[in-house]
This record gives sequence, structure tokens and C-alpha cells, in this order.
Amino acid sequence: MPLKERFKLRIYGDPILRRKTEEIKEFNDSLSSLVERMIKVMFEKDGIGLAAPQVGISKRIAVVLKDNEPKVLINPTVVEASTDMVEEKEGCLSFPEIYEVIKRPRWVKVKAFDLDGKEYLIEGEGLLARALLHEIDHLDGKLIIDYLSPARRAIIKSKMRKLWAK
Ligand code: NI
Repeated sequence: MPLKERFKLRIYGDPILRRKTEEIKEFNDSLSSLVERMIKVMFEKDGIGLAAPQVGISKRIAVVLKDNEPKVLINPTVVEASTDMVEEKEGCLSFPEIYEVIKRPRWVKVKAFDLDGKEYLIEGEGLLARALLHEIDHLDGKLIIDYLSPARRAIIKSKMRKLWAK
């Protein structure tokens, strides 16, 4: 399969989005170029985050924008989250043109590895916290639709079915 096609953005209904991802054990050049391509896709699609399954790669890799700079999150885990929750509209590149109100912690602290295999902490509030939690959800096969009521879920499923039929 050509590289470009392999990197096609996956939308809801693609089974890869539900698969649990594999941990990264080797920090090498192929990982770096993979991440580089993910960052490119994130910028091209105007996203503030992207998880590897969204480009067809079932591995624990995500990128998020922090102060307009891409941050690389390898094998990320949530270390701490505020009990204080906020409801905001949230979108996902895998659900084109869909924005839903989702309740998430206001603040979060995440542990991850960088491209050199060095562990680091990243914390954020507001939009950054939301992006971090959203991308880590992707790595566990969890999607925004899972936070919604059965009625909302049915509406979105039907919208997505129409999109697939196009
Ligand atoms: Ni998403």
C-alpha cells in the first residue's frame, strides 16, 4: 500500500479506532519518522491533537499542540486529574463536522516518553487537558461517542453512516 494511503485519516466505523494499541519499546528512526508524519497530518487537518490509530497505526503514540508547539507523547498515561470537571464542545478528526459537549477534568498531569525514550511530565488545563485526555482515550480505543447519551449516539451513528455511504 502506498505510504500516503496508509496514512489516510480513519473515521468512525473503521475498526482500528476501537483496537487497543501496542506499547512502544524501541525508540528509533522509524518511530521518529512516523511521529513526523503524524504531526504533518495534525497540521494539515487543523487538529490540536492526533493519535496513531487515526492514521491506521495501532501503537501508543499521540501528538498534541501545546502553545502552538507539537508535543510528542509515547506510551502516555494519566498520572493525576482534577476532580473539578468542565463541559465543553469537543471535536475529533475521526468524526468530521461533529462537535459534542463532553465533560472532562479541568486539569490533568500526564507521564509520557519523548522521541529519545526519555520520560517526562506534561500538565495542562482547559483545552490542553481536554486534548491530552482525548488522545489518550484514542489509544485505549475510546471515542467521544462513548461519552454521549444513547439518543445522541444514535444521531451521530446515523450521520457517520451517511458519510460512509458517500
Ligand atoms: Ni479524536
